[in-house]
Amino acid sequence: SAAEKDGHDWFMRKEIHEQPRAVADSLLGRRTPAGQLQLDEVRISDEDLRDIDKVIIIACGTSFYAGMVAKYAIEHWCRIPCEVELASEFRYRDPILTRETLVVAISQSGETADTLQAIRHARTQRSKVLAICNTNGSTIPRESDAVIYTHAGPEIGVASTKGFLTQLVACYLLALYLAQVKGTRYGDEINQVMDQLEAMPGHIQTVLDREEEVYALAKSYVGARSVLFLGRHAGYPVALEGALKLKELAYLHAEGFAAGELKHGPIALVEQDLPIWCVVPPRGRDQLHEKMISGIQEVRARGARTICLAEDGDTAIEPYADVLIRLPKVPTLLQPLVAAVPLQLFACELATLMGHDVDQPRNLAKSVTVE
Ligand code: G6P
Repeated sequence: SAAEKDGHDWFMRKEIHEQPRAVADSLLGRRTPAGQLQLDEVRISDEDLRDIDKVIIIACGTSFYAGMVAKYAIEHWCRIPCEVELASEFRYRDPILTRETLVVAISQSGETADTLQAIRHARTQRSKVLAICNTNGSTIPRESDAVIYTHAGPEIGVASTKGFLTQLVACYLLALYLAQVKGTRYGDEINQVMDQLEAMPGHIQTVLDREEEVYALAKSYVGARSVLFLGRHAGYPVALEGALKLKELAYLHAEGFAAGELKHGPIALVEQDLPIWCVVPPRGRDQLHEKMISGIQEVRARGARTICLAEDGDTAIEPYADVLIRLPKVPTLLQPLVAAVPLQLFACELATLMGHDVDQPRNLAKSVTVE
């Protein structure tokens, strides 16, 4: 009923709007009064954690994209090599697993069969397993050595939204925790990132307050045959997630690409009026922003219509954006927490306008318990 949906038409739309709270709840109680990070259930000694020399993240669907963001954070903050792999592929390639490998399973439901079988395989090789999960007492955390619970609350919409954002939070927490235990990053710096994370619910709310712009945009794309998404760095998984949301909900051909890879093939797809969402990295010292702009110039020169997600104050992007959706100014690694939101709103609205059941898309299940 509408009451259960807080006046929203879909659970998904309600859950999108619950994200500031879900993110805040997932950050709650993570710092001790002495400023040390603590996780929920870590049955792995600090000594064993210090010996970890490789992290392998396994997940499916949207959770896999959260894992891709985690790789950027873990390698940057902890200097530990990190791989991300689809759970369904993992054990079939005879992966190299040792006692010094930390396998991180990300699963909103905690019941996904592909992910469960992957961690069972990892445990037979004596690797440590840490679960990031939204469902207390579900199978995956029960079979893991450590758990970080996300506090999104129950997610009803089949396509994950608040589940995804809280998984990102858990991934950042894990990366900072490993950095703390390994001593690669020190108290002050960890506290600074925690402060930035604690500001994110407010920033996500700012994006939600601007939802009407995204809805208006969705109206003009009813009938589109294909939509592309470009991103770089932590914005690349966001592009993939934006495309997945459109496939899941609007049953539309949609693909995400790393912007730098465009010239190696995907640019051949670009034709007059093709809509392309561009997740523009924050301006910084790393040239990501400039490189993104040159990618955008390439697709515009071939007639694409660019919808740019760019931070407040970024005036350099203006000449290259057919449509500009503003994001609050946040650090590059944390940008997925705000950049994913307009893409969720867009997919939700477009699918609604197309008359689809947003909460229960055809052919999909909330948790897939068969391999
Ligand atoms: C299903 C859902 C997706 C979800 C994926 C992984 O395919 O439709 O929305 O991302 O499973 O689910 P999990 O519960 O393991 O995160």
